[in-house]
Amino acid sequence: MCGIVGFTGHQQAAPILLEGLSKLEYRGYDSAGLAVRDGENLAEVVKSTGKLRNLAEKTNDGLAIHGTCGIGHTRWATHGEPSQTNAHPHVSGNCTRSGSGPVESGVVGVHNGIIENYQELKDKLLRHGYTFYSQTDTEVLIKLVDYYYKKYQAGPIDAINKTLVRVRGSYALEVMFTDYPGEIFVARKDSPMIIGVAGGETYVASDVPAILKYTRNVYYIGNLQLARLRPGQAIFYDLNGDEIEIEPTEITFSAEAAEKGGYEYFMMKEIHEQPKAVLDTLNSVLKEDRIDLSEVGLTDEEIQNISQIYIVACGSAWHVGMAAQYIFEDLAELPVRVELASEFRYRRMPLDSNALVVVISQSGETADSLAALREAKTKGLKTMGIVNVVGSSIAREADRVFYTLAGPEIAVATTKAYSAQLIACDILAVQFGKVRGKLTEEQYGELIAKLRLLPEKMSRLLEEKERIQWFAAKFASAKDVFFVGRGIDYAIGLEGSLKMKEISYIHSEAYAAGELKHGTISLIEDGTLVIGLLTQQDLYEKTISNMVECKSRGAYLMGLTTYGNYGVEDTADFTVYIPKTDEHFAASLAVIPLQLLGYYLSVARGLDVDKPRNLAKSVTVE
Ligand code: F6R
Repeated sequence: MCGIVGFTGHQQAAPILLEGLSKLEYRGYDSAGLAVRDGENLAEVVKSTGKLRNLAEKTNDGLAIHGTCGIGHTRWATHGEPSQTNAHPHVSGNCTRSGSGPVESGVVGVHNGIIENYQELKDKLLRHGYTFYSQTDTEVLIKLVDYYYKKYQAGPIDAINKTLVRVRGSYALEVMFTDYPGEIFVARKDSPMIIGVAGGETYVASDVPAILKYTRNVYYIGNLQLARLRPGQAIFYDLNGDEIEIEPTEITFSAEAAEKGGYEYFMMKEIHEQPKAVLDTLNSVLKEDRIDLSEVGLTDEEIQNISQIYIVACGSAWHVGMAAQYIFEDLAELPVRVELASEFRYRRMPLDSNALVVVISQSGETADSLAALREAKTKGLKTMGIVNVVGSSIAREADRVFYTLAGPEIAVATTKAYSAQLIACDILAVQFGKVRGKLTEEQYGELIAKLRLLPEKMSRLLEEKERIQWFAAKFASAKDVFFVGRGIDYAIGLEGSLKMKEISYIHSEAYAAGELKHGTISLIEDGTLVIGLLTQQDLYEKTISNMVECKSRGAYLMGLTTYGNYGVEDTADFTVYIPKTDEHFAASLAVIPLQLLGYYLSVARGLDVDKPRNLAKSVTVE
């Protein structure tokens, strides 16, 4: 949700900033901008609406702006429509030519996050003679920094600290002061930001892929911490303005992992990376055919004492939780509630004090999930994060972390992180079942063996993608699609439906199969596509009956079931089969054809698969 980059060194900054932004474009793509300084000269600001290529064209790939120190931003609009004036960077002085051109002396900056009390701060600044050219909270933030800088004349760190004390919300803030050529000042709270120092140059970014080309050792700047960046140097400060030490973290994934690798879109590459993501995540906790959660920090004694699990997450990660609840309840006989993080954080429900709160998040930065985690900790509950991004806020703040090893996920629509989260939940459910005495040694061994076979079965499914491509071409102009299933199949439908609507813009909904006739069936008309999910044998007949109810009203039926259930072809007009596995783990396989369906529909409709409209990869605002 907004991407920021910064560079100070000896090379020309603009091309480096543009390249960094191109790696972060998944975070926002409404508009983009740069501010670059050449020595003592004032910063030059260039902004553009739309995708980053517009900014690249406007600046001749950065060659048209000179200077070795600069900041950049790609925006996902929160306050103020996407426009050139609202695009970042923002300046403390007045702004010319819709925000582009040389800036007046003072402060220029970019920001990712939301300033909740910006109106109150704006009123204060208006009273002190400031004027505003944009509708953004960021302009207020930058002008507040300028106000304290001028008022106390105690330098940039002091001015930023004073600003942060007044600000409510989240931010990854990057600013340059006219009086400090060659320097960038940064601060963060609840929005991601990393810093890299290599070869006498210093880099800032919202995420690792933007600077991986230059260094694998990155500094994760902590919440409410600041840094002063000069070429080849980063000095960190706390809120009191005292210097602090931060140890760098080594990034282990390769630069190629964050490239498209010959695929047309990141999403297709990431769909194909799922077997590896699942295998790597499995191998991280399997020791000689037993599950070992010592790295996660969960002991057998703790597992035995847990009487309730709350799974808290957003979007697809919540769908993982929806599938996981059936698996936990069945294998470990443990009650599970799955909560939307945005609801959980404000809900006043009685909580079991022996509960484990599991927060699932790819980015580890989703604002609602992070707030829910903090809420759970405040209430004294045990917490665990299932997180993909190493060093992210949720990973750092949860009592324990189960890292999914999906590698960097760039496409806005999640695929491989979903699959890795799901396998992490499967692993936990099997281990909880064993430790709590609900699974025999033999059942335990068999389930682990079935988990081990999943990656190969996923690869096999991917080889059959042309059938889905053909089917997608047939339904490219569909208006409404319904997914129906029961139990785990319902959870699979939720994810299949989200994949479809978010990237193809076709309206779709997922229903617990028995629910459709309680209202929604009135929407079924001739040719409406209904996708029936049939991977759970004991619910198969029931769901088939619900599919028949739709067919009688004109629906076109697609069935998704396991090899062997060939009787489905008597009812469905088109059938997709998945390899057999233990039914608890069927979601890992069944989701793949549905991801492919969403993907191919999006391509068939000529859309940008990786960057669907109105979305951003990690939602760091409420
Ligand atoms: C959908 C998707 C989102 C995320 C959700 C949570 O394809 O990617 O629904 O799952 O925004 O994000 P994380 O997992 O980063 O907390």
